[in-house]
Parts: sequence; C-alpha cells; structure tokens
Amino acid sequence: MSTEILETQLDNTSLDSQDLLQREVEEIRARYARRRDGPPHVARALLAPEKILRFQERERAILRLIRTRMRKPPWELKVLEIGCGYGGNLLQFLRWGCCPWNLAANELLEDRLAVTRELLPGTVSILPGDASSLAISPETFDIILQSTVFSSILDPAFRRRLAQKMWDWVAPGGAVLWYDLRFNNPFNPDVRAISLREIRELFPAARIISRSITLAPPIARIAARFGAGIYMLLASLPPLRTHWLCWLEKVPTSNCAGPIVVQKRQSS
Ligand SMILES: C[S@@+](CC[C@H](N)C(=O)[O-])C[C@H]1O[C@@H](n2cnc3c(N)ncnc32)[C@H](O)[C@@H]1O
Repeated sequence: MSTEILETQLDNTSLDSQDLLQREVEEIRARYARRRDGPPHVARALLAPEKILRFQERERAILRLIRTRMRKPPWELKVLEIGCGYGGNLLQFLRWGCCPWNLAANELLEDRLAVTRELLPGTVSILPGDASSLAISPETFDIILQSTVFSSILDPAFRRRLAQKMWDWVAPGGAVLWYDLRFNNPFNPDVRAISLREIRELFPAARIISRSITLAPPIARIAARFGAGIYMLLASLPPLRTHWLCWLEKVPTSNCAGPIVVQKRQSS
C-alpha cells in the first residue's frame, strides 16, 4: 500500500491527555521489557501439537468470517494489523490471498518491527510507533486486526482512544477483527482480559459477531497428546476457551439502523 493513504493530521488531544497517553505507552514498553519471551523464530514454530491445532482452529474461524462477511476477494482487501508483534499474522493474510501492497503493519517496539520487516515483503507498509498516534485517513482499511494488543493496554482511556481511532480507519462494510483474552491470566499481572460488554462499549456502532475460541493451554497440551479428535472435543466446550474472536462490522450508513448485536457460536 502506498503511503499516500497516510495523511498528516493535527491531533486535537490536550497536552494533559498527551502526557497520560505517553505515560501508558512507556508502561507498555516496560511491561514487555519484563517479559521473558523466547526468540521470534522459536515462538513462530508450530511443532508442538497443541500449537498447530490452536493455530488451525483460529485460522478456520477467521477465514469463515472473511468468507461470509466480506464482499471483496482477499486480493482486494486492505488490511492493517496494529501491534503486529513479529508479523506472523500478516504472513497468514498473505497466505490467504491478500497482496503485500495492500497490507500495513504497525508495532510499538522497534525490535519486533525489525523482525517484521525481515519477514514480510518490502511492499508491505510499515507504520512504527504507538497505534493510537498514527495519522491515517478515515475509512482506509477493510480489516483492522488487533490480536492480544488491548489486553496489554491497562489504561481504560487509552483503550477507548485507540478503539475510536481504529473505528474511524475502517471503511464501511469492513470490520475490526478482534482476538483477545476472555479471562485474566493469574501468572501475568501485566495483561487484563476484556469482556464482551467492554468490547461493545469500545465499539458502540459496530455490528458484532462473537464467539469464544482457543482451548486453555494447560488442557490443550494434555488433550493434544491424545490426538486432534480429543483436542477438538474439549475445544468445543465454551467454558474451556480463553479468548474472544469478534468481527466488529461497520455497516454502511444506508443500511444502518443503529447498533445490532449478533452473538452466535460458529462451528469451525
Ligand atoms: C501479545 S503481542 C501480540 C502480537 C501480535 N498481534 C500477535 O498476535 O502475535 C502484543 C503486541 O502489541 C504491541 N503493542 C502494545 N501496545 C501497542 C500500541 N499502543 N501501539 C502499537 N503496538 C502496541 C506490543 O508491543 C506487542 O508486540
């Protein structure tokens, strides 16, 4: 995607709020500095049986959403991922038929963005820095992916600001694609789950399609040892799932009679 879609705009946030936003950005950096993540190529590898099963389950669910909700073929979709980490999700979009020049990758942490640059084709737009401070023209993207970014933002005002920006950047008929924690992680105080109610409050104008997904890791590790059938059986039980997968659709104004909430379980 060429950079002409990005326009410089004056940010009307007050100086006080700018200060608070900057503080949360520094907090996010500090939280990630405390983490003991392995090297990116190890994190990306799918050799562990539970990882490939989890990956495939999510892939099927997202492809179903794109197939049933989007009116455009993948090669025409303009996609932005905020907080893309090491770029693995955008690699999936390429595999699904999207064109690299229609993809944009944003990430706060420079070391992660450097890996993303190496991984993705040079025609992918790279947007460094805090996602909530990006200057992007309204209605630019068909899909904006946020995958476990909001759970690492603990300040409610920051979350609201980022959600509002993302919503502005989505084109009518497009959607924010949401994958994030449904429950708090007792071993990680640096993340906070987001309920469906909060998601609705963050995107009040969205038509929401939601489902729980992702078998809890300790159960997944044991289940995967007994094969894909047992894994899928347990993954079919909603209380054992740790994440929400949501399609937050921007209904074109002509059809829009206010927010509609569609909550349905989809078999993957
Ligand atoms: C848990 S990681 C997930 C990475 C990737 N989305 C994925 O699903 O593999 C969350 C990422 O969001 C990034 N992040 C957090 N807050 C951000 C912000 N305000 N702007 C841009 N990136 C942010 C972090 O640096 C981190 O790389």
